[in-house]
Amino acid sequence: MNILFLGDVVGQPGCQAVRRFLPGFKREHSVDVVIANGENSAIGNGILPQSANHLLDSGVDLLTTGNHVFRRREIYPYLDAHPGQIIRPANYPSSAPGGGYTVYAGGRFQLGVINLMGVVFMEALDNPFHTVDQILPKLKDCNAILVDFHAEATGEKRAMGFYLDGRVTAVIGTHTHVQTADEQILPKGTAYLTDAGMVGPEQSVLGVKPEAVLKRHLTHMPSRFETADGPCRIQGILLNVEAKSGKVNKVTRVNLV
Ligand code: FE2
Repeated sequence: MNILFLGDVVGQPGCQAVRRFLPGFKREHSVDVVIANGENSAIGNGILPQSANHLLDSGVDLLTTGNHVFRRREIYPYLDAHPGQIIRPANYPSSAPGGGYTVYAGGRFQLGVINLMGVVFMEALDNPFHTVDQILPKLKDCNAILVDFHAEATGEKRAMGFYLDGRVTAVIGTHTHVQTADEQILPKGTAYLTDAGMVGPEQSVLGVKPEAVLKRHLTHMPSRFETADGPCRIQGILLNVEAKSGKVNKVTRVNLV
C-alpha cells in the first residue's frame, strides 16, 4: 500500500494547493491513504471545521494536528464528533477535546495513526515517549502504524525515531514547516523523516508574510501574521508499505512546486 503524508497545510493557499495537486498525484502513485497535518489550515491560524472539511473533501483521509489545534473554539466539538478523521496530540490531558490516535480501515489493511507532541521548546505536556508506550498495545491488530511527531527539536524527533524503530511503520516529524532531507529506513525497519515540511507559500517565513515576521523580530512589538501569497510548495513523504506486514519497502520524499 502507498501512504502519502503531507506536512503542515498552511491557510487558504495550502488548502487550495492540496485540492489542485492531490487527485492527480493519488492516481499517478496509486495512493491508498492520505494523511495531512492540518493544524494551520484555517484562515488566520489554527484549524476550523471549514478548513478540515475542505481538506477531507479534497482527498485527505485523516488529519493530524499539533500545538495550534485548540486555537479556534469551533474545532472542539468537531474533534469529538470526528475521531476517525481528525486527531490531536495524544499527550495533551485526557480532558482535552478529541483523541490522540485512531485506526483507518482501508479494506485490506488497518492503519493506526498516532499524533504526539514534543516537549522540548514546546508546552510541557505529558512525556511523549511514555504516552506512545501506553497507546501501542491498543493498536496491536493494525497492519501498520504511523506516528506524526509534532515537535520543534531535531534531537527529540530523531530520538523518537529510534525509540519506535521496529515497533511502528513510520515516524514522521512536523511543526517546523521546513522539510529535512534525512528520510531513511532505520535499522529495525521503521521509516523516518525529521520534518515533512509544509504545503504552503514558497516565498514566506514558514507560510507567513515575511514583513510581519520581520517586524516582530526587529521591534519586539506584536504584529499580525498573515499567510503569504504566491505559488505553494507541496511537501511530504510517500511510503510504500506491505499491506499485510506493515514492512516498509520504499520511502520517497515529496517536494513539489
Ligand atoms: Fe505546530
